[in-house]
Amino acid sequence: MKIVHISDIHCNLGSDYDDSMFKKGLNLVNNEKDVDFVFISGDLTTNGLLTEYEMARDRVDKIDHRCIIVPGNHDERNLGYHLFPEFFGIPSFTYSIDKVSFVGLASSEPDKNEGHLGRARHTFIETGVKKGKSLTIVGFHHHLIPVPNSGRETNIIEDAGETLDILLKHKVPLVLMGHRHVPYGVRLHETLLVNAGTFSCTRTRAHFGHTFNIIEIDDTNISISVINIESEKKRLMIETDKFRMNYEIKKRNLIIL
Ligand SMILES: [Fe+2]
Ligand SMILES: [Fe+2]
Repeated sequence: MKIVHISDIHCNLGSDYDDSMFKKGLNLVNNEKDVDFVFISGDLTTNGLLTEYEMARDRVDKIDHRCIIVPGNHDERNLGYHLFPEFFGIPSFTYSIDKVSFVGLASSEPDKNEGHLGRARHTFIETGVKKGKSLTIVGFHHHLIPVPNSGRETNIIEDAGETLDILLKHKVPLVLMGHRHVPYGVRLHETLLVNAGTFSCTRTRAHFGHTFNIIEIDDTNISISVINIESEKKRLMIETDKFRMNYEIKKRNLIIL
């Protein structure tokens, strides 16, 4: 299975958005073979404006693969949370494909930069896990733990402790996030916490540039690579400890049953 993870497109009529970078990245994404789906982890717009939503819809429609999308804090600005469902569908959902149960969650609040999930969306995580698929992936915009090289460590979701507790308790193997415009991956117990950098926002950090992630999953391993859009170079960021992963254990249990 292959998932492309894009974040922080930041469509905008001003200086926040780099359309030439989007086109270059789009070309790389569309040239990827055997992609099961693309996950876009929010901030498709900069101010949540109608013109930006129209631009974002136009750009996302140019992606040749199936896209599943959650909103970011920028998409919730200026009543943008009214527009998101109109343009991109339900902001919190579960999506099943092959052996994967994907839980997408809106982590943003209107006109606030801080993220919050809360009990209702925690229940979504547990519902996704209970679907009995061999692999649960959870995706939302804000980060759960501080992301190095991204400046002041603000906007971690307010209920990060409770969210982490649920994710670790259920041994969710993969959590996908964005928001900090820096690619990052870290393993916490049996869970990979992975941030995608920005795809096409002009607000990049130092030399991190514009990037997206490619997630490759087989029966024993999950690996995440970062693609630098400018250089087109691919580097492995993180992969599982293949003998300890929950989905591997579950798979064995299924065979025994
Ligand atoms: Fe952003
Ligand atoms: Fe954000």
